This record gives sequence, structure tokens and C-alpha cells, in this order.
Amino acid sequence: MSLFGSTFGNLFGKKEVPSVLGVDIGSSAIKIVQLRKKNGQAVLETYGELALGPYGASAIGQSVQLPTEKIIEALSDLMKEKEVNVTTRLAGLSIPFSSSLMSVIELPAVSDKQLATMVPLEARKYIPVPINEVMLDWSVIPKTDSRDDDAVAEGMQKKVEVLVVAIHNDTISKYQQIVEKTGLQAGFFEIEIFSTMRSVVEESLTPTMIMDFGAASTKLYIIERGVIKSSHTVNRGSQDITAAIAGSLGIPVERAEMMKREVGASGSDQTLRQIITLVLDYIFAEANRSLLGFEKKYNRTVGKVILVGGGASLKGLAELAKNAFKTEAVQGNPFGKLSTPAFIEKVLRETGPEFAVCIGAALRKLQDEG
Ligand SMILES: Nc1ncnc2c1ncn2[C@@H]1O[C@H](COP(=O)(O)OP(=O)(O)OP(=O)(O)O)[C@@H](O)[C@H]1O
Ligand SMILES: [Mg+2]
Repeated sequence: MSLFGSTFGNLFGKKEVPSVLGVDIGSSAIKIVQLRKKNGQAVLETYGELALGPYGASAIGQSVQLPTEKIIEALSDLMKEKEVNVTTRLAGLSIPFSSSLMSVIELPAVSDKQLATMVPLEARKYIPVPINEVMLDWSVIPKTDSRDDDAVAEGMQKKVEVLVVAIHNDTISKYQQIVEKTGLQAGFFEIEIFSTMRSVVEESLTPTMIMDFGAASTKLYIIERGVIKSSHTVNRGSQDITAAIAGSLGIPVERAEMMKREVGASGSDQTLRQIITLVLDYIFAEANRSLLGFEKKYNRTVGKVILVGGGASLKGLAELAKNAFKTEAVQGNPFGKLSTPAFIEKVLRETGPEFAVCIGAALRKLQDEG
């Protein structure tokens, strides 16, 4: 089984294919989307989300650690919801970035067959658990400059960079259990970063940073020409904003969550804006370090920041990010890759960032099907 599919597949096959689901089990909410292919286009059929907090005696918007049975229960509930009306079991699932290990290793430029034996041997050095406890996948990173050819000319051995990805067997079996118990027919499990890239990154030469604002953490990925160049997790997320609002204003978490979602940092409430900015400053500072690290290593500038995850729907966030990074910053618009009814376009744009992962997984499943 492959852990990551092609990022920019085309959807222009002729065959009519069945509807497919993309499933993203986040730490605070499950998101699903159902798509169908029509006239070479991915058509949105339905989508929905379910907060997991209440399944773990916590509030909406909070991340919770749930036993697998509870996740199965929640996903089943979501698929049963009348308004969502899921009609297929064919699915692609995303796996949390935190359950994966990813490293770029340098190897001699040998044949793919030789690489296949070298990678597991070499990967042992980077993976802190026995290699037979993980599922391993890898892909050679395409060259972006000609320095390597120069090296050959100087008599040095030619090298390739290989992206190695590992997922622990326990995670795989947990997902297999979820799939089995919810009656899904899963084509693949893919680390969420690959799903997100597919749904929000345009094919471009500009290095781009994706910021996924989840509940408990913010994930940062720097992508160049469809390849992940760097990744980092900041241990602060949107629930820290809620906690800061609740703490500073002395109000219940539920009320703080509502204020965050309804007013946000758009500026109509200066006190609220200040409380939110304080949390964001911490996240932006770490993101900036990551960004500068990339720029120094590769001598290229990140030209765009794409904001995804539920926390990216915060009003005023794009503006604050633009100032923090001194670069273009936009909310991801994964529904933009789909054919959708015009009358819900505005809603889809606003809730879009949250669905980046599940839409990416569904797009791959649609490609795989036809
Ligand atoms: N309109 C909004 N404005 C601000 N924050 C929001 C809004 N909608 C949702 N959020 C916040 O987004 C967070 C959830 O985002 P998301 O669903 O992407 O997280 P997750 O996928 O469960 O987390 P992770 O990816 O870290 O496991 C919650 O903390 C929630 O409060
Ligand atoms: Mg998430």
C-alpha cells in the first residue's frame, strides 16, 4: 500500500466513477466530504463535520484523546446524519501528521531496485523504533538545480535525496479497525500533509508554506514544486486562543469559543483582538523561525503562506499573517477545486480551510477510481 499518491493528478478520465468519501479524523473534529466525477470535474455531493469534544466530556473546539471505539462511534454518527446523507462507502482516509515520521535522507544515485534495499537499512538511523514495527514508503525527490551534475564533473559520487515516510503499525491497525467497524472500503491511508497539498497548493515554482491551524497544534509545511522541503509542529493551536479568551475575560470556555468564532481578530473588539494576537504571536514567531531556516538552507524565499485547518477561519487571521511573514497570506480554498452550487460558494469559502485534508483525500480516491 502506498502512503502517498501523486499530488497533481488529472481528473479527466472518461469513465463514470462511483462517489467517494474523504475522511479526516482530527484531534477535535471529524471531517468528511463526498465527491463524484462528472465530465472530468470533481463534483461536491455532500460534506459534514462532527466535533469530538463531547465524545470525551469536553467542549466543542477542544482536542480530545479518544479510545478507538469512541472514534468509531463518532464517525458512524456523522455518516448517519440525515443532513449529511452519505451514500457511498468507498473512501480515502488521512492519517495525522503526528502519527508519522518523515525524513529526507541522502543516498547514492543508484537504480530504484538498489534503493529499495538501501532505504530500509538507512532509515533505521532515523526511525526511533524497530523497523519491522513501521510501514515504510519512500520517493526520490526530483532535483531542483544542477549542483549535482557539477559534483559529478568534479569526480564526486552522484547523490539523490529520498523522502522516507513511516507510520507505526499500531496506527495502521487502529485505522484498519475504524474502517472495518464503520463499514468503509478504504483504498489507502495517507498522511494528511499529502492530502492538504493536493487540495490547496497550485502547481507553482514559488516555495509555499502551509499552516494548518488545528485545535491543539499548528502544523507547518514548506512545499516547493510539489515536494515537501521542511515540516514542523508548533504546540499551540486554536484551542489556546479559546483558553486565553476564557481566562482573560473570566468567562466559560463555551462562551469564549463562540466569541472566537463570531468576532475573531477582525478588530471590532479591540480587547478580544489583543488576547488573540498574543497567542498568534507565539505561533507566528515559531513559524517565522521555520521559514527562515528553509530560506537559509535552500537560498530561496517563501513567497506565499496558505492557511488551513479550522483555526484558519478566524476573522482577521490572513491580515495578521501577512504582516507577520511580510508575504502574501491567504486562506486555503479547497472547495475551489470542486464543482459546487453557486449559492453556497460564500459559505464554502468561509468553512473551507477546515476541509482541506478530507477534500485532498477524496480527490486522490477519485483519481484512483478512474
Ligand atoms: N470560525 C472559526 N474561527 C476560529 N476558530 C475556529 C473556527 N471554526 C473552528 N475553529 C477552531 O478550529 C479548531 C479545529 O480545527 P480543525 O478541525 O482543523 O482541528 P483538528 O483537525 O481537529 O486538529 P488537528 O489537525 O490538530 O488534529 C478548533 O479549536 C476550533 O475552535
Ligand atoms: Mg486537522
